[in-house]
Amino acid sequence: MRITKEQLKSLIKNKLHRAGLKEDHAEIAADVLVFADERGIHSHGAMRVEYYAERIAKGGINTNPVFKIEKTGPCTAIFHGDGGNGHAAAKMAMDEAIKMAKENGVAIVGVRDISHSGAISYFTNQAAKEHVIGFSVCQSDPMVVPFGGAEPYYGTNPIAFAAPSNDEKMLSLDMATTVQAWGKILHARSKNESIPDTWAVDRNGEPTTNPFDVNALLPIAGPKGYGLAMTVDVLSGILLGLPFGNKVSSMYENLSEYRHLGQLHIVINPAFFTGLTQFKQDISTSMQDLNAIKPAPGFSKVLFPGENNDIVIAEYKEKGIEIVDEIYKYLISDTIHNNQYDHKNPFAK
Ligand code: NAI
Repeated sequence: MRITKEQLKSLIKNKLHRAGLKEDHAEIAADVLVFADERGIHSHGAMRVEYYAERIAKGGINTNPVFKIEKTGPCTAIFHGDGGNGHAAAKMAMDEAIKMAKENGVAIVGVRDISHSGAISYFTNQAAKEHVIGFSVCQSDPMVVPFGGAEPYYGTNPIAFAAPSNDEKMLSLDMATTVQAWGKILHARSKNESIPDTWAVDRNGEPTTNPFDVNALLPIAGPKGYGLAMTVDVLSGILLGLPFGNKVSSMYENLSEYRHLGQLHIVINPAFFTGLTQFKQDISTSMQDLNAIKPAPGFSKVLFPGENNDIVIAEYKEKGIEIVDEIYKYLISDTIHNNQYDHKNPFAK
């Protein structure tokens, strides 16, 4: 079914607040989740609400955290999340990073001890809207084999980048470092369909086409994606003194314990480099150049990164955001959660 952005945000905020999140944190979390749904990134939208509600209700997200920004240098800071809501902490940390980069040209803010923060382009787009470049990486639970390995070590460790243009459009890249999201495996299981042998491996580390045999996901482009996942883990885990690699907590285990995840925001102010006007002009030109490239067979147009999401936003604005019926029913119900996420992780022992 389809509902308006405002309706969806209000339903999500209400549910998370009733589960125990402070109202201002529930407001930000709802904003981040709707940001994902309105772009067609449904894997990180309303479908996550019941999981978050269960973790909040079980005590696995601090509902009264003391957020603290610790300045560690002229351009660096650590945002202490105190086990609190990841969306709120990552957004507030990005607000600080933007402020610092406007003054100093660049800012690096590490966000530590947070829960899952969702689709991380929310935070990089925050920067681009403020006329600076945003870059963000974060840890996620281990479910990806290192190149040549038969056991998971890294998470799907996403990378996001956004840059402002001459108008409201922006370049916005937001990608997991795996070939496919875990959700795609679950989808294939639910439909009893096979998967391409490039997505995942079984318990022996052999590529598999049977979604029920999947033991870990494959990184994008073999050793290159593996190296990117490593880079994300170093920047958002080791650099911040947090658990790293396969010691990162699982999303679906120990739902009554805080997660201590890390995220790193880097903000660069173009005004300190080529100049803001020149930078935005050149970004707009590169978008136009890309759109003007001759499309390959089977394609009608070359899109710049993030433009596919802009197309969905425009469609949903007109017709309403598409939401799975079951999710809508849950959102309008009195139920906080159905106790169904504990140990849902297929990699849990
Ligand atoms: P995806 O594969 O759907 O898209 C990756 C990138 O490709 C995007 O920037 C998208 O704009 C671009 N793209 C897609 N089609 C395009 C086209 N036709 N032309 C030009 N560009 C195109 O994204 P993925 O890897 O499935 O990630 C989905 C979301 O999951 C992201 O928002 C990510 O932040 C989130 N995520 C969050 C995690 C967390 O722990 N917080 C962990 C892993 C992913």
